[in-house]
Amino acid sequence: MTQDPGFSKGLAGVVADATSVSQVQGEEGRLIYRGIPIEEIAEKSTFEEMTYLLLRGKQPTKEELAKITADLKAARALPKYVETVIDSAPKSAHPMMILQSAMAALAFEQGPVKLTDVETNVASAIRLTSQLATVVARASRNRRGLPAIAPKNELSHAENFLYMLSGNVPNKEEARMFDVALLLHMDHDFNASTFAARVIASTEANLVSSVSGAVGALSGPLHGGANEKVLAMADSIGSPEKAKEWVHNALATKAKVMGFGHRVYRTMDPRAKVLRAMLEELVEKKKSDTKAQATYETLRIVHDTMIEELSKKEKDYIWPNVDFWSGALYKLMGIESIDFTPIFAVARVVGWSSHIIEMWQDNRIYRPAAKYVGPTDAHIVR
Ligand code: SDX
Repeated sequence: MTQDPGFSKGLAGVVADATSVSQVQGEEGRLIYRGIPIEEIAEKSTFEEMTYLLLRGKQPTKEELAKITADLKAARALPKYVETVIDSAPKSAHPMMILQSAMAALAFEQGPVKLTDVETNVASAIRLTSQLATVVARASRNRRGLPAIAPKNELSHAENFLYMLSGNVPNKEEARMFDVALLLHMDHDFNASTFAARVIASTEANLVSSVSGAVGALSGPLHGGANEKVLAMADSIGSPEKAKEWVHNALATKAKVMGFGHRVYRTMDPRAKVLRAMLEELVEKKKSDTKAQATYETLRIVHDTMIEELSKKEKDYIWPNVDFWSGALYKLMGIESIDFTPIFAVARVVGWSSHIIEMWQDNRIYRPAAKYVGPTDAHIVR
């Protein structure tokens, strides 16, 4: 079907609403959360502080930061019926599907939405942010046949998540790296899952149910699911020596190389740079892990070969995105690849919630037009 000038496939370039939560500056390869560059956030901020800023649009005072930190800690437990939903999932269920179901179950007790009641909506978002992390950890422990780990309230959000996942309190360096990885994934203007959250919430559906829909959108391999596929790609290549040829074959068959390309970025994704630097630091620290060394080396060659080959094909607008390095970093932290995309949701739930709360201040239901291309004078055939 030829592209009708009247519409843009995939809504490419279509401005669907105004927002001040974040901006992806594709040409410059820049990302800002409420105006602050992601590099500065990665260097100086924490998940708790950024949760406050994204949800409320202003940086917290010391007291406000202490309060949101306490509120996140207080909401780490799950209702029994949500634990039952998680525990009854078949072992073969992908954790993103368990997460989506658990979010829908968390909506059981949601009442009618009060659009402009920011305090109630922010409190709901903080509770959900904390609970979502607990859901991901519980589902992961179940899949591995391990007992759920109760939260440790002296730990930060990032530390406690890693603790509930592994049963061990993480060292300060890896906990900080994970906190930074969460910061990098918290928001990204109108990506597919955030747009999905907005569409659902624009009908005045409750925030938790809207997040359940966003989880479904994030689960796709073209969106959040890519980081898991990047590591599978590295494993399927087998060794660094085979990486160059693998890229040549992939490009020759017009395959989509996971972790590359982006609808908006036309240069390196700034988040990829931060993730790569952390990965290189951890690879250096864990020199004895030969598998990790080989995986990093394979990814490095795929990365460099892709950039070199794409520039030759006038496709120099395809660059590594946030998903290219994140998986290798999480793997080095002992996290299983099937849990990578749920971890994306652990961070992005804050962005989804921030957009919903912002949109509700001046809400209008999304209902785009359609270009009908079917028959207009058909009749029932008897
Ligand atoms: C995320 O939107 C966001 O902000 C998302 C995200 C966020 O934080 O929320 O940044 C997170 O989802 C990152 C993207 C993760 N997905 C992947 O890594 C999957 C691989 N990437 C592609 O599927 C693709 O690049 C998308 C989905 C990311 C973007 O799709 P577009 O904008 O619709 O681009 P396209 O598929 O129309 O491709 C345009 C051209 C095509 O070539 P032609 O047909 O014009 O000759 O670029 C080529 C594509 O073949 N291309 C690739 C490629 N991605 C695009 N070629 C090889 N490898 C790739 N990865």
